[in-house]
Amino acid sequence: MKLKFVLAAALLAVGLSASAQTIIKFSHVVAADTPKGKAAEFFAKKAAELTKGKVKVEVYANSSLYKDGEEMSSLQLGSVQMLAPSLAKFGPLGVKEFEAFDFPFMFDNYTELHNITQGPVGAALLAKLEPKGIKGLAYWDNGFKSFSANTPLKTVADYKGKKFRIQSSKVLDEEIRAVGGIPQVMAFSEVYQALQTGVVDGTENPISNFYTQKMYEVQKHLSLTNHGYLGYAVIVNKKFWDGLPADIRGELEEAMKEATVYANKIAQEENDKALESVRKSGKTEVYTPTNEERMALKKAMAPVHIKMADRVGKDTLQQFYKATGFDPSKL
Ligand code: LMR
Repeated sequence: MKLKFVLAAALLAVGLSASAQTIIKFSHVVAADTPKGKAAEFFAKKAAELTKGKVKVEVYANSSLYKDGEEMSSLQLGSVQMLAPSLAKFGPLGVKEFEAFDFPFMFDNYTELHNITQGPVGAALLAKLEPKGIKGLAYWDNGFKSFSANTPLKTVADYKGKKFRIQSSKVLDEEIRAVGGIPQVMAFSEVYQALQTGVVDGTENPISNFYTQKMYEVQKHLSLTNHGYLGYAVIVNKKFWDGLPADIRGELEEAMKEATVYANKIAQEENDKALESVRKSGKTEVYTPTNEERMALKKAMAPVHIKMADRVGKDTLQQFYKATGFDPSKL
């Protein structure tokens, strides 16, 4: 009798502690083997460690839970707790200032980028998400985008009349139009098939995405244009986050801090490795534009900075220019 009671009490305790475990669903659209995918796994491991199992982060890679275009509203509704959308995905949410990250040739390197993402301008941008029920926790790097197509992309004229898949950003739409291309907004998970079937001719992405989505199978030419940046903000449902016990939230903040250091450390390495793998595949011809060709692209895209200034706000843009040294009047 006594033993039965002890057993029942033990089972109840196990049940209670199991039900007290907090589950965080972390959804993202890229492969597990990318800077974002690896950093998400790192965070999940650290979160379990630091909270001693009180929090379980379930990572859903490759749009297996939500596609881009669906994930933001799902986070706001609370059906997923954590995401790391690319910065281009915040414009459609109504926080257009984020599209400053999409401006062509805005950043020459990660140092210029970090002047924004690791400083007060980046923090102020994340704070703008709060009225939308979203809390921004960190910026995670990916890298610089390159263009691909089935025909060579050397001169600006090579882009003319070609359909390029873009993320849903008005700045990216203008960027493609500036070189005479036709922008086509599309979910990331649909790009491979669209390239394969010829729905679009080409695309832009960091090489880590180009490689892990196997785009090299369906694109004959990759031009290392490094014409724009693509990276992420890690975000959570604000109500969920604020409702966590303070000690748990603190432990998760620490896990996120460590995951961010890791993410930003591996971003360049992962893109370098991916480029090596693309070359090795032998399926895509990798072209490095000459300085003149790259400058011609930069010049052709410069009007985007003037045309889109009001959209992102002149103040935001000035802050970006100050941090990056980009001067559109010099083109
Ligand atoms: C894209 O849609 O091209 C990117 O946002 C994918 C990603 O998350 O890196």
